[in-house]
Amino acid sequence: MVIAQTVPAPESSRAARALTDAFRSGRPLVYIRTPEEERVARILAETGAALAAPSSPGHPPAAVPAWSWSLTHALHLPNQPIQLGTESPLAALDFIAAHPHPGLFQLRDFHEPLRDSPAVRRRLRDLYSLLRDTGKFIIISSPVRELPVEIERSVLYIDLRPPDLTELVSFLRDETSQLASPPDEPLLRTLAPALQGLTLDEARYALRRALADHATLTPASLPFLLEEKRMLVNRGGVLEFISTPTTMDIIGGLENLKRWLLERRKLFDMRESLSQEIVPKGLLMMGIPGCGKSLCVKAISSHFQLPLYRMDMTEVFSGRYGSPAVAFADACKTMEDLAPAVLWFDEIEMAVTSTESAGEQGRIFAFFLTWMQEKTPGLFVAATANRIDLLPAEMIRKGRFDEVFFVDLPTEEERTEIFRIHLSRRGYDPDALNIPQLMEFTQGWTGAEIEQCVVSAITKAKLAGTAVNPTDLVTLAARSVPLSRSMKEQVNHIRAWAFERAIKATPPKGLGK
Ligand SMILES: Nc1ncnc2c1ncn2[C@@H]1O[C@H](COP(=O)(O)OP(=O)(O)OP(=O)(O)O)[C@@H](O)[C@H]1O
Ligand SMILES: [Mg+2]
Repeated sequence: MVIAQTVPAPESSRAARALTDAFRSGRPLVYIRTPEEERVARILAETGAALAAPSSPGHPPAAVPAWSWSLTHALHLPNQPIQLGTESPLAALDFIAAHPHPGLFQLRDFHEPLRDSPAVRRRLRDLYSLLRDTGKFIIISSPVRELPVEIERSVLYIDLRPPDLTELVSFLRDETSQLASPPDEPLLRTLAPALQGLTLDEARYALRRALADHATLTPASLPFLLEEKRMLVNRGGVLEFISTPTTMDIIGGLENLKRWLLERRKLFDMRESLSQEIVPKGLLMMGIPGCGKSLCVKAISSHFQLPLYRMDMTEVFSGRYGSPAVAFADACKTMEDLAPAVLWFDEIEMAVTSTESAGEQGRIFAFFLTWMQEKTPGLFVAATANRIDLLPAEMIRKGRFDEVFFVDLPTEEERTEIFRIHLSRRGYDPDALNIPQLMEFTQGWTGAEIEQCVVSAITKAKLAGTAVNPTDLVTLAARSVPLSRSMKEQVNHIRAWAFERAIKATPPKGLGK
């Protein structure tokens, strides 16, 4: 039988497309590794529809039926009685061989008879030739990869990744269709990304959590849906979901960086229609500790309206998750499933400088460089580093990151802004506190030190039962020794090194003292 070349609807999921392509190319045996058997059944139903051939002129195309077999349920069609006599694995294979119509046959639990029975292995090899060009396909779905050598070459092996957006939208649509007021399509599309990276079972828990709070899905369901992902990711140990109620306005200065981010966001939003080299890949921020690198990463994720995940390099190297290189690669892969998202590598120099595991490091570094070039366009990488002199030249070279920014000690203008931000955030009027007077005492201060000064002044005033006054701030400022003075050598070293290698996050015009 010749399968009609019906192009699958543009809405086909990635998994259904992969299977449709495999079947069209005539591969009769597929092995899908996944714990999600029911999801495979759904995907096969979708694939069967994509493979549909018109039964006769004028009639709608008939979907190729998807059968199922397991150790406890003989061969059957969805919601149909079992085919008597197909209980044993061999009998099921015989039935498929003799069946006169096209069909997709999902065999569950089949890795066991395949491992234990030479007769089953032999029969499956026979079927490999017998099923060619018959429109019949065997799909073994199993949570483990157990492929005997003699059939390894005949089978197309697929490691099923979590559902993509198309699959999730269709899942949400099906699951909510019975609700009194089901969500509309635009809302489904807005909410589905919150489930990316989850299995369908996990997505179902997330949906139940959201529906327990509210009788239907609304834009307010988003945090409930995201909660499942947060738990899943945090369970893994290496990645951490970070909630970011931050906006760009709470960053003082760094105008170059902010402007760049505004432009990139536009391009990132258009990523589906742009060629891969134009889609923003990410940025590397290096600089003096306490000058706002972490703060900027959080602001990026809220500005891009994407969830933020942090890869903890200390955990990667802890050995608690197996070999660091494998743990790192696995976490990168997981992140691709969670896209669209912002992935934050904090202290990325750890990946290339931890001394105990030089070999592992080399592997991680090589993997990272290739991965940055090939990763899915939906992932925006934000990497931060303090010991920039430790980063190899390949890491900094153009092309890996879209831009490398240097976050320096704030200028006078920026310090003023940072004081204003931290005072206003805590309910104080900056104009009443004579900020210009503070500038003289805060040369070489970091943003973190400015924040600390504000917090100390407020604490002192609260303890004394008075209001914060300008003198308190000045006294505190005059008494503090900033990092740039106590660690002058290191700070100068970082600055000198970054000078030629990175773009300043602060525009030159703003360079004050
Ligand atoms: N430019 C800034 N505007 C406003 N606040 C700032 C700025 N820079 C630093 N801060 C304050 O200092 C805190 C610490 O900064 P942050 O953690 O972002 O520094 P960092 O550069 O990541 O430092 P480290 O290298 O130690 O990780 C921030 O949470 C913020 O409150
Ligand atoms: Mg930081």
